[in-house]
Amino acid sequence: MSPGASAEAVLGTAGIARRDVGPAESERASRAWWDADADDYLDEHLADIGQVDFVWSPEALHEADARLLGEVEGRRVLEVGCGSAPCSRWLATQGAHPVALDLSASMLRHARAAGTGTGVVVPLVQAGAEHLPFADASFDIACSAYGAVPFVADPRQVMREVCRVLRPGGRWVFAVNHPMRWMFPDDPGPDGLVVGQSYFDRTPYLEVDDDGAATYVEHHRTMGDRIRDVVAAGLVLDDVVEPEWPEGHERVWGQWSPLRGRLFPGTAIFVTHRPA
Ligand SMILES: C[S@@+](CC[C@H](N)C(=O)[O-])C[C@H]1O[C@@H](n2cnc3c(N)ncnc32)[C@H](O)[C@@H]1O
Repeated sequence: MSPGASAEAVLGTAGIARRDVGPAESERASRAWWDADADDYLDEHLADIGQVDFVWSPEALHEADARLLGEVEGRRVLEVGCGSAPCSRWLATQGAHPVALDLSASMLRHARAAGTGTGVVVPLVQAGAEHLPFADASFDIACSAYGAVPFVADPRQVMREVCRVLRPGGRWVFAVNHPMRWMFPDDPGPDGLVVGQSYFDRTPYLEVDDDGAATYVEHHRTMGDRIRDVVAAGLVLDDVVEPEWPEGHERVWGQWSPLRGRLFPGTAIFVTHRPA
């Protein structure tokens, strides 16, 4: 991630720290961060994610091409960590019945404005992914394009919650930064090709204010951890998609760049389902 300078100013970010951080502090930091950064994030990435489009990752993998969710027409779909909700709006245009959930009120304000602006209005819910405010078996499909999962202290709880709200047989597909990226500095250039830390070091990355309170948090899980999280929640893992950097795609998105993307994966997309 490349946190924006103005969110840092608003939150009083004073430095970087590496320490354990629990679910409550993580959620508090993420809400404050995404509230403060929402305008800048969308200024920078609207061209990448669109208003009515489902883009899985900086490799520009579109759901319209990848079809990782299977048939969506007529399906009830939960999007977890929807941001401004372009994916949910795209799903609505495909005949799905999406519900777009996010922790950040500022992100959801953008989602509401974009719904009005595009004429594709989807239901929006403000909540954290570790406690989904839905009844059991409410959805046929759940999805997340870099929403919530990399930012929570207890991703296994997110897996359990999504499994609970899916109907038996329902599919859960989520994209996160590829675990191997953790070893490298968040630098899209040549410096980002040199290993800087252990893949096995799960100590979270934090930005902190003068009092040491977290203003931004990212959690690391190895590939094995992610698979164990899925399986421990009672889900079945069907596939792990590692999108390759497409020929001719020159767009730099934070730490994701053509230089690095041609050498190693930047995104992992886990395709899972709740057993029937
Ligand atoms: C990188 S954005 C991705 C969203 C969307 N796919 C996009 O490209 O705009 C991450 C989103 O996850 C949300 N988020 C972070 N932690 C969350 C949590 N614990 N529960 C729900 N949403 C969360 C943030 O508010 C933010 O909108």
